[in-house]
Amino acid sequence: MNFRLLSLAGMAFLAACNGSESSRDGQLESTFAAEQAEARKAAEDEIAAFKKGGINQATTEIDLIKQDMKTAKAELDRLKAAGNAKAKELEQAEERYKEVARKYAGILQELGRTPEAVEVLKNAGLTQEASNLMSQIVIKPQVPYEPFPTLYKVTFDDGAKGLPAPKSAPMGWNAWNTFRCDVTEATILEIADTLIESGMAKAGYTSVNLDDCWSEGRAEGGGLGRDGDNKLRANSRFPSGIKALAEKIHAKGLKLGIYSGGNNGTCQGYPGSLGFEAIDARTFAEWKVDYVKYDDCGGPDNRLTFVRMRDALAKSGREIFYSGNFNNFANGFNSNARTFDLPPAINMDVTTVAHTARVGDDIQPNFDSIKALIRAAGEREAYSTPGFWNDPDMLQVGRLPTLEENKTHFAMWAMLAGPLLAGNDIRTQSDDTLKILSNADIIAVNQDRLNIQASVVREDVIDRQVWSKPLEETGARAVALLNMTDTAGTISVQWTDVALADAPAKVRNLSTGTDVGDAEMGYSTVVPAHGVVVLKVTGKEIGLPSGRSILSDQQPIYQVNGWGPVEKDQSNGEAMRNDGTPLQIGDEGFEKGLGVAARSQVIYRTDGRCSDLSVHGGVDRFYATKSVPEKRDHGNVSFEIWGDGNLLAASGVMTPADGAKRLTADLTHASIVRLIVKPGGDYVNYDYADWANPEITCH
Ligand code: GLA
Repeated sequence: MNFRLLSLAGMAFLAACNGSESSRDGQLESTFAAEQAEARKAAEDEIAAFKKGGINQATTEIDLIKQDMKTAKAELDRLKAAGNAKAKELEQAEERYKEVARKYAGILQELGRTPEAVEVLKNAGLTQEASNLMSQIVIKPQVPYEPFPTLYKVTFDDGAKGLPAPKSAPMGWNAWNTFRCDVTEATILEIADTLIESGMAKAGYTSVNLDDCWSEGRAEGGGLGRDGDNKLRANSRFPSGIKALAEKIHAKGLKLGIYSGGNNGTCQGYPGSLGFEAIDARTFAEWKVDYVKYDDCGGPDNRLTFVRMRDALAKSGREIFYSGNFNNFANGFNSNARTFDLPPAINMDVTTVAHTARVGDDIQPNFDSIKALIRAAGEREAYSTPGFWNDPDMLQVGRLPTLEENKTHFAMWAMLAGPLLAGNDIRTQSDDTLKILSNADIIAVNQDRLNIQASVVREDVIDRQVWSKPLEETGARAVALLNMTDTAGTISVQWTDVALADAPAKVRNLSTGTDVGDAEMGYSTVVPAHGVVVLKVTGKEIGLPSGRSILSDQQPIYQVNGWGPVEKDQSNGEAMRNDGTPLQIGDEGFEKGLGVAARSQVIYRTDGRCSDLSVHGGVDRFYATKSVPEKRDHGNVSFEIWGDGNLLAASGVMTPADGAKRLTADLTHASIVRLIVKPGGDYVNYDYADWANPEITCH
């Protein structure tokens, strides 16, 4: 295994070649021999260092060797072009080039990149060696990006499947932001036509959603407005009824959404579904509704009605998207504002209850509201998991005061991987507004199949932030340079900030739709006040090494954590990097692993190359170690391992009394693996959790 090529020595040799017209052959040969010996020694040292340093070292090796390939090739070409080089010089330069190529191919092969190794050998004229190597390649079917399997929110005791989880965040239009209660069947049909004529439907906006105020009768005490069978009815603004409206909308190739609430009345006092969940879900399914927005509006604190509505929709026989406004972000609702789970009375993980949950107050058409919602969505980033989307609320694009703000709002909603439901009157929208809403590059960021919510990875100046969203394509990130301040300013990102190797990357500006070209280490630009520049960066993924390795030693593409940063080889210590204690679960100490605090999510790119993961999970004995007796028995968490849209392993709730539990996951075909730690039921206090000794095998 010769990893290191003879870079310094090699260059000296080539320099000697340059001056060779005036040198004697013998001199040249002895210089060459000395250089070779020195280079061999350097190579051995490098191999030892590589073995110690692992993959990062290997990528550095590749960079160096590529550089040397270039030098050797350039020298060979120069000699050939000069035409007066001696045959021996040419032969030596050619040999040197081949030698470098062999070493480069060796490294690539070691990293499991055999097809690239074959190319390198071929290009160096080593055809026999290339074809020998080629014969060793086992052609594998292209598996990593098969459609993610459908996943279900709940499976009932009778084995029936629960709510199916769609593959990406919903897109469409909702009536509330512009029309409030002043909405009619005629308007809805015009909106549907406009979606089609404007090209918005083609761009993805396919769901036409009613909000509050469509039903008959204002409820005082519940049930009012329902018919003799307790079924909801449409009011006089929808004279044909909802079933007929759905038919018309479906005939246009679109979907229909409806609204209800988990109280006696909705927020505007129309009949609510509390106590009528099953009958209303059946009615919606019978009308062939495709989307239900379920609001809170001061309903019972336990939010059980949301779970009842989920189960009723799941059993309704129709695939219905379920969007929740649990109002569980409100101050005083939870003991801890950083969590959004349902109250201890029912103790449920909100991501298992609905497809989306609102993260904050009703959106308003001003930039303060936009900022507040970006922050709120950011706070609950760890919740964004397969089959669930944080919902920063319906769009105000076209309704904010400035063009810049409208663009920023849309781009950030896309980065946050939230629903994209236009809320403006699209019948009269300006060209600028249509252009913003139809930006295909930005929509692709939102709809990306990995469904990872962007997170802040750098903030040199408060409110001038760099957000990163890993995309499906290997090496690709959507990077938003967001300026929430009131003055223009420079925002910079380095590729290492977004978990890419420090190597040139291709940059496309998605805000302007222009290719910027290759950028060496990063990118920096002036961003206007309240503006954003969204880039697609395609660089070098650091990737997982072939063979068995310790996952916590590798580079995750995404990491978000309850308190402080995700720690390596120590427990989470709440605030700063390196403020933890040695990893300890029960009586067992671990040298290697990740120390996290619920709720947490760490994602690695496996690219369909990895077969299995084995890890030990448990509550860290942080407080015992720190001798805080009153806290030592607190904390409860649960561990989940996801491969793409599949839950592969789950620990169930664990407490400090439990020893480490071994979890294993079969990662075959998975593009990414997500390590998720959820609070165990009493919010996030004391929830320090370890992923100890995580071992992964890749090829
Ligand atoms: C609540 C919701 C809004 C809207 C209104 C309708 O305020 O948060 O999105 O649905 O109710 O009454």
